[in-house]
Amino acid sequence: PATGHLACGGSGVGRLPEPADIVREMEETQARGKTLAGKKVLVTAGGTLEAIDPVRFIGNRSSGKMGYAVAQEAAQRGAEVVLVAGGTVALADPPGIRVLHTESALAMREAVLQEAADAAVVIKAAAVADYRPKERAKQKIKKNDAELTLVLEKNPDILMELGARKRETQILVGFAAETQNLLAYAQEKLKKKNLDLIVANDVTCPDAGFNTETNLVKIIGRDGSIKELPLLSKQKVAKTILDAIESLQK
Ligand code: PMT
Repeated sequence: PATGHLACGGSGVGRLPEPADIVREMEETQARGKTLAGKKVLVTAGGTLEAIDPVRFIGNRSSGKMGYAVAQEAAQRGAEVVLVAGGTVALADPPGIRVLHTESALAMREAVLQEAADAAVVIKAAAVADYRPKERAKQKIKKNDAELTLVLEKNPDILMELGARKRETQILVGFAAETQNLLAYAQEKLKKKNLDLIVANDVTCPDAGFNTETNLVKIIGRDGSIKELPLLSKQKVAKTILDAIESLQK
């Protein structure tokens, strides 16, 4: 849907796009063709939830919209798509895509490692918690007058593990959500995790990052190339990411 003035009097996402835009979009999709046919693409989306007790958790604000847009774009290009969603996702499963719902980083790791072995492309848009509570209380923690201290232990870095076991022909794409030193931190992650591309996500911009319809990113290549995108819908960002991946395959 387009954004702007709505019949209900408000303003936002929900307008019927201009017919010319619909036609252009259809023509572009048709022209693009099934360029990923025969390829398995694994995508992760959303944030992980790390349980404190049966009713509480540590989490983050990732909605899964960015990862779902990437998965849908890959499916439109003919790929066999597996989407591993974290516990914060409340989106409907997209048609034609195998969705594996997980909750915590450990559960996401298990699903991802299993599915990554025969994937031609892995794209990790998920916001994985770096830490989880060391103890998960069996019963709801009762409040008292004292302070409560939670001890956190480190979660495994799933992307780092994928980088370490990456096959020669596999393309591995990470995201980097940063609030400062965007390029430097993203480039550091690209090298450290043995990635082919990293999507550097400026999450300080109000319309970009977590739980927004649009995003502001730079796509950084292993060869040092940097493609800077303006603020775009997550669908358009997904298209550009898939174009960058396809150009690596040529
Ligand atoms: O879901 P939305 O609401 O649409 O929001 C989209 C988004 C902001 C979550 C997305 O665009 C994004 O930036 N995703 C990455 C968020 C993140 O956790 O970045 P990071 O810099 O902490 O992690 C770097 C990379 O390592 C990521 O690809 C992440 O999936 C991966 N990682 C991180 C930690 C960990 N323990 N395991 C991992 O695999």
